[in-house]
Amino acid sequence: MRISNADNTVNIRWPSKFNEIPKEVFHREDVYRLELERIFMGPEWHMVAHRAELANPGDYKTFQIGEAPVLIVHGEDGKLRVFQNACPHRGTQLATCPRGSGRKIECPYHRWTFKNTGELAGIPGVADFPKDFRKEDYGLRELRSAEVYGIVFATFSADAPEIDEWLGETKPYIAHFLDGDGDLTLLGYQKVLFDSNWKEYGDNEGYHAPLLHVAARLLRFPKTRGEQFMTTHAHKVNLTELPEPGDAGFLRDPSVIMPFDATKRIQASVIQLYPISLILRNHDTITMRFVFPRSVDCTEVHYAYFGRREDSAELSSYRARQASNLLGPSGFISLEDGAVFNRIHVASRTPGTVAFQKGVTGPITAPITMDKGEEATNLIRWERYRQTMGFERA
Ligand code: FES
Repeated sequence: MRISNADNTVNIRWPSKFNEIPKEVFHREDVYRLELERIFMGPEWHMVAHRAELANPGDYKTFQIGEAPVLIVHGEDGKLRVFQNACPHRGTQLATCPRGSGRKIECPYHRWTFKNTGELAGIPGVADFPKDFRKEDYGLRELRSAEVYGIVFATFSADAPEIDEWLGETKPYIAHFLDGDGDLTLLGYQKVLFDSNWKEYGDNEGYHAPLLHVAARLLRFPKTRGEQFMTTHAHKVNLTELPEPGDAGFLRDPSVIMPFDATKRIQASVIQLYPISLILRNHDTITMRFVFPRSVDCTEVHYAYFGRREDSAELSSYRARQASNLLGPSGFISLEDGAVFNRIHVASRTPGTVAFQKGVTGPITAPITMDKGEEATNLIRWERYRQTMGFERA
């Protein structure tokens, strides 16, 4: 029997068992197109930048929400705004560099220029325009946006709740991860394409970590303690405390796993905001992972590494070394993830379902708290996904 979504546009077989997910959602083009419309253009917020990436007036960054290019600009008035990265004249993409700076934004096609606050400033040949043309109708198209501890969130949807309601219980943890006020400096990036669907990237959990990652075993990370909780908006907060690493005997430079301040507890904690934004506090690293789908088969992830503004040069370099070596795309305790995401994606072409088991005792709803090593909490993300997509259970 085929089950239809609400608009009867995308048909999918969704299992009746609450812990099963149909594999076809990972590779079907029509499902992906519906995700772009309902999730990435829908009533969710998306993490698009941190203020430290565009610290001075005139600085900008380009990014994507789903497949839609956006432009985040630091205005002369100090405000960070998020615009469609598309000229309001004939739609040309305005900026193509990952980051840049300038007093004005100029479209290359007909050289209209815009202030960094979005207003249309200059127009060649305007004398030949229709009499009712008004400059004020052609400023850059601005998205709803909000800044929380320096993190810029944006949405194309007028129906997304206010940001504080959407973030819910995650907000104090975001503050904690960023040392209270989010007064950060940018250390650098690693940008990666994964040959997998964005939901495979987002389905990572605490269960696999000590089993998949060889280095986690060598470093004795399986002895970690902690818990995770899910919010009603399907955000996950996983709080893990690591034991003293000690001398595991296989690192020539143990500083990559030792805290800079030996008196501090070692955290390995993650906030995953639905649908696909991540904030990590691991050892001395502060990482944000900015994620967007490039296609149904490819996911782009920008690992952005941050320090605190007051850091010494020594601490900055310590953080940078830990950041890429631990949880970067080829880090000790994440190296194998990309390979597994790809294997899941390749194998998603086989029929049937995948099934969550660890921590599954029955249907669950948020808010809920579990041990940090359970995979069952991902089912809350899947339920939000299923409902948003309009897929009915068999
Ligand atoms: Fe940008 Fe014409 S499309 S100025």
